[in-house]
Amino acid sequence: MSDLSLFFRQFIRHPSEIRAVAPTGRAAAREMARVITPDMRAVAEIGAGTGTITRAILGRGLPPEALELYELNAAFCDRLRTLYPGTRVHNLPAQEMVNVGRANLDAVISGVPTLPMPDALQAAIVGAALQMMRPGAAFVQITYGPLPPLSESVRRQFGLRHERSRRIWANLPPARVYVFRQDRATPGL
Ligand SMILES: C[S@@+](CC[C@H](N)C(=O)[O-])C[C@H]1O[C@@H](n2cnc3c(N)ncnc32)[C@H](O)[C@@H]1O
Repeated sequence: MSDLSLFFRQFIRHPSEIRAVAPTGRAAAREMARVITPDMRAVAEIGAGTGTITRAILGRGLPPEALELYELNAAFCDRLRTLYPGTRVHNLPAQEMVNVGRANLDAVISGVPTLPMPDALQAAIVGAALQMMRPGAAFVQITYGPLPPLSESVRRQFGLRHERSRRIWANLPPARVYVFRQDRATPGL
């Protein structure tokens, strides 16, 4: 089965977890991976799906052994293990990374649909990521809406500032990429 068919079938089964009808396109995936450099030692991608952003991350020269993937959907995890040997694939919600993942992450790249989530869930995901990230590391989030993909109260809770990309029209739906960084020591934790 192609990645596209697998993605669409899983969307039909789990619409509230997946929230998109098609995987991220190449242009948006490249933008998501822009912060990655080959010398990074540990990176996590959360909500990796069928791995279009994973491909872009590895395309930046990051060794697969430096990449951990978190994905709720078991069928997607099987596909990721086949496509990206050497990466560590966790069939777990991203908010559980504190129990299993590598610390001092150089970046977290997120395809998890945070925008429609309640603040408490956004905070659990971002809080777990920040706990595992080195100070000043980037939390990169894709979104399709006009507003930042983390609520104002969550941004305030963790002291996050952000930069955003231009709108990427070549994506379905058109997307933007936000890069969040903490400007003071993990206040919300
Ligand atoms: C919009 S899809 C994006 C998939 C892929 N990153 C892409 O760009 O094509 C969102 C993905 O996040 C996963 N997901 C949702 N909530 C999650 C969570 N709390 N932890 C890990 N993965 C999650 C879903 O199963 C789904 O694969």
